[in-house]
Amino acid sequence: MLDCIIERTIRYIDGMPKKERKKYGQFFTSKETAHFMAELYTIPQSLSKVRILDAGAGSGILSCALLERLERVASVRSIELTCYENDDNILGLLRENLRTCQANSEKDLQINIITDNYITSQYLDFNHMLGGNPEPKEYDFVIGNPPYMKISKDAPEAAAMPDVCYGSPNLYFIFAAMVAKWCILSLVHGPQGLILSVLDSIFLQKGN
Ligand SMILES: C[S@@+](CC[C@H](N)C(=O)[O-])C[C@H]1O[C@@H](n2cnc3c(N)ncnc32)[C@H](O)[C@@H]1O
Repeated sequence: MLDCIIERTIRYIDGMPKKERKKYGQFFTSKETAHFMAELYTIPQSLSKVRILDAGAGSGILSCALLERLERVASVRSIELTCYENDDNILGLLRENLRTCQANSEKDLQINIITDNYITSQYLDFNHMLGGNPEPKEYDFVIGNPPYMKISKDAPEAAAMPDVCYGSPNLYFIFAAMVAKWCILSLVHGPQGLILSVLDSIFLQKGN
């Protein structure tokens, strides 16, 4: 499955100008990295239903790698995959790729593609504000490669998350903060949660 999804993604890259992809910080994870990341999860035998989040899913490479891994785990019977992606250009390919995963899966695989902005659609929940969902969705596993893009302090995503924005904000850090919050919530209810994300090493430098 992953080979097929990578081939389709290469065709998409060839046909979509870099200028368009850069607007969304759109770069894709290699097959090797996706496979490596999927193998890092410890999957408890007690877990029969798995809830996965892929925020900024692109063409679904990381989701597909994790689904392939879960196919090999007999105790897992059902999987609920939630993908956030807000670039209209790639949504058709994401849908096609996840349909391929579904057609090749022996599990009960439910797919949820949310086409909203991952940050601005959830900031009320994140900041515990009036109108937010007091019980936001929880996930067992989070896999991701967030958009890397400097944004202005006034960008809607930065304005939505003032507590985590210092200096000149970058979208990847805001994604990481949002993802961490939901996964920590899951950890409170069960010890199996794990976040795996491709992150820039700048993340480790002083001041970030
Ligand atoms: C670095 S790419 C990674 C794509 C894919 N996860 C992979 O690893 O190949 C980040 C993705 O996030 C999407 N994205 C950017 N901003 C977003 C936002 N605010 N909400 C949801 N998706 C977003 C981009 O369109 C892009 O597909």
